[in-house]
Amino acid sequence: MTYDDVMKLALERGFYFPSSEIYADAQAGFWEYGPSGVSLKNKFLELWRRELVRRDKMIEIDGSQIMSKSVFDASGHLASFADPIVRCKKCKATHRADKIIVEVSQIEIPESADLDEFDKTIVEKNIKCPKCNGDFENAKKFNMMFEVGIGPEGESAYLRPETCQSIFVDFPRIFKTMRGKLPLGIAQTGKSFRNEIAPRQSLLRLREFYQAEIEVFCNPAKLNDLGKFSEIKDTKIRIQIDDEIKSMTCKEAVDSQTIPNEFVAYYLGLLAEFYEKTGINMEKSRFRKLGDKEKAFYAEVAFDFEVETAVGWLELVACNYRADYDLNSHATKSKEKFAVMDGDEKVLPHVFELSMGIDRSMYTILEHSLREDKENERMVLSLKPYLSPIHVGVLSLVKKDGLAEKTDEIYLNIKRKYDVFLDHSGAIGRRYRRLDEVGAPYAITIDHQTLDDDTVTIRMRDSMEQSRIKISELDEKLSKETAFP
Ligand code: GLY
Repeated sequence: MTYDDVMKLALERGFYFPSSEIYADAQAGFWEYGPSGVSLKNKFLELWRRELVRRDKMIEIDGSQIMSKSVFDASGHLASFADPIVRCKKCKATHRADKIIVEVSQIEIPESADLDEFDKTIVEKNIKCPKCNGDFENAKKFNMMFEVGIGPEGESAYLRPETCQSIFVDFPRIFKTMRGKLPLGIAQTGKSFRNEIAPRQSLLRLREFYQAEIEVFCNPAKLNDLGKFSEIKDTKIRIQIDDEIKSMTCKEAVDSQTIPNEFVAYYLGLLAEFYEKTGINMEKSRFRKLGDKEKAFYAEVAFDFEVETAVGWLELVACNYRADYDLNSHATKSKEKFAVMDGDEKVLPHVFELSMGIDRSMYTILEHSLREDKENERMVLSLKPYLSPIHVGVLSLVKKDGLAEKTDEIYLNIKRKYDVFLDHSGAIGRRYRRLDEVGAPYAITIDHQTLDDDTVTIRMRDSMEQSRIKISELDEKLSKETAFP
């Protein structure tokens, strides 16, 4: 399915839409989730908790979105969290230097490259402003954090550009109060904020976005001494090696040194198992090791988990080995103690993170689940039943003869436990089509026979097959079919 097909579905079926859309001064890069989007997102996060947080006995926190200037001074974001930009001398329009160069000349320069490299290529390739054909000023860095003024004096603080900084800052307290033991994963989900120069493509590049981040604290001397590695050693992952994507088990990846150690391989394996369960086509996925110039400034080693979509490969998760970069920086600036005991040994833990973009994951799940069923003239969103915004539609065939009342009775009995859409009006075929588009795996229809024998018709979204089921068996059936794996 194309990006436009997904966009149409998102707008028409309440998944997402632009923020402040009724006003002309609405800024780009801000989108709202509608009811279907919220329901899908909540279920996605429940799966994330089950498959990563609880499975690996991680703990979860919920930190502030606004954090002090010292945090980002220590983290390096004030100095280094910047994109290269160029401004047109004539019309003053600003563009991201790396993007404008790749668009015009197909030359890819990593965003962290030296500024001279952008200037040199712009001159060599004679790249001009796409708006007015003017020349560009020299490239410069633009810091992408949103600064906020706190209180009447407007004291400087920042909206967090990644959720994980509170995990680092809070680490000594959490480790102590939760009686932590290495390795320990601390997870957090919530919003982050980046003043992107060119936000675009709805959920794919936002200025305000959701992350689900996991920071695993470990003893760097024990990266190949992970008892639980056996759990995922046979899990297959796809890794980009030179120009080829190879499928191999986590064990093969470590043995061949494609992945540096068991610790990193274990978490990449968990991540792959998680995404498999979201319904994303894993045959279109890859882990890609980033080159030195592509990595974020805090990462020692980095693998991106990417998925191929209609708009190209999308990075859904940044897997960064941040070593002791963050704990060391915060320890130095704050003078707090961040070293902890691991058995008899005192260590400053290293950190490996799985930094997941929720919004991009939502888009990819939608794109990979949406299909056109030409034969039956319908669009079908074949979501996993446990992720579907609506588990079941409850429809009365007609409103008269007591069918509406019977339908309401069934609805009232199941609505606390499932996401149910009650629908009394319109042609039944059109009602089924709407439920197919929103991904509801089941629809039950109450008809005259229901009044005689207490059975309803149950219709399957994917096959369109219908059968009769006793009302008394409905709960058991739905409970089994919509359960998380
Ligand atoms: N914490 C890594 C990132 O936000 O990309």
